[in-house]
Amino acid sequence: MSAWLTAANKLRVARILGSKVETPTVRVIAFRDLLCRRAKPGQFIMLWIPGVDEIPLSILDVNDDGIVMVAVKRVGEATQALHEKRSGDAIGIRGPFGNSFTITRGKALLVGGGTGIAPLLFLAKKLKMEGVKPQFIAGAKTKDELLLINQLRDICGAENVLAATEDGSYGFKGLATQLMEKTLVNSSFDIIYACGPEPMLREAHNIAGRRNLPFEASLERIMRCAIGICGSCVIGKYRVCRDGPVFNYEQLKSVEDFGRWKRDFDGKKIPIQ
Ligand SMILES: Cc1cc2nc3c(=O)[nH]c(=O)nc-3n(C[C@H](O)[C@H](O)[C@H](O)COP(=O)(O)OP(=O)(O)OC[C@H]3O[C@@H](n4cnc5c(N)ncnc54)[C@H](O)[C@@H]3O)c2cc1C
Ligand code: FES
Repeated sequence: MSAWLTAANKLRVARILGSKVETPTVRVIAFRDLLCRRAKPGQFIMLWIPGVDEIPLSILDVNDDGIVMVAVKRVGEATQALHEKRSGDAIGIRGPFGNSFTITRGKALLVGGGTGIAPLLFLAKKLKMEGVKPQFIAGAKTKDELLLINQLRDICGAENVLAATEDGSYGFKGLATQLMEKTLVNSSFDIIYACGPEPMLREAHNIAGRRNLPFEASLERIMRCAIGICGSCVIGKYRVCRDGPVFNYEQLKSVEDFGRWKRDFDGKKIPIQ
């Protein structure tokens, strides 16, 4: 293990600095961790909730003082416990882990669904710092579940942020990938970045392939060690925690399970809904 990974893998205790409601099911939580100052868009941390569990979360933002933000969707025991944490409460942090999105200077289209918007917001910020004004498509089931839309407008410019809701309660009625296809008819891009539910990523991958566009997507799998040892995050010949979570078009094309199969907590293959 490299010296950097050894240091990153050490559990540090951090205190919650603040927690804010973002949508009915998502809270943005802030804490300070100096090692995360060097985190790049796409990387994730393992966040330990004492007495409950340790879970992977993408980094939403980090500043030079090491103030880290994560967007947490309440889906089960650990995320519920994290939602109940308040300023001053202790948590444990390992990471940042994994690779990151490639920063390109061309015209970029970012397509995010659900909490997949979080790492793409961090990427949008970095792209803007490099002089690129990204275009963003944010997808959710309903208007209430659309995440971080105002922050995205601040970063990308309101005219560059498009929303898609499945029930049509805000923006385009339909899937983020349908809006992506429509957007690609009228504008050209040099790269597509995506993060969100895997069926959405698979469709975005297909669209990018048909148009011969460079493509990167961030995947989620069950993570335990986060350093490539336990094997719980294996997909094809890759370990998502170590070789990903960001994969390019060719890598994803080589993985048969992409968008179709994942593994449960016992390692059994189950279909992706
Ligand atoms: C690289 C990566 C980045 C992620 N980023 C975010 C994020 O920014 N925001 C966010 O809300 N969620 C994120 N997740 C998902 C988050 O880790 C799970 O929602 C969380 O672990 C659920 O825990 P729970 O106890 O609340 O729910 P549980 O009831 O234990 O699980 C609910 C579902 O969450 C997933 N899950 C549970 N444990 C893990 C685990 N150890 N590793 C991966 N998935 C798990 C499984 O699909 C499971 O079916 C990310 C996952 C990965 C792998
Ligand atoms: S989480 Fe253990 S190998 Fe990836």
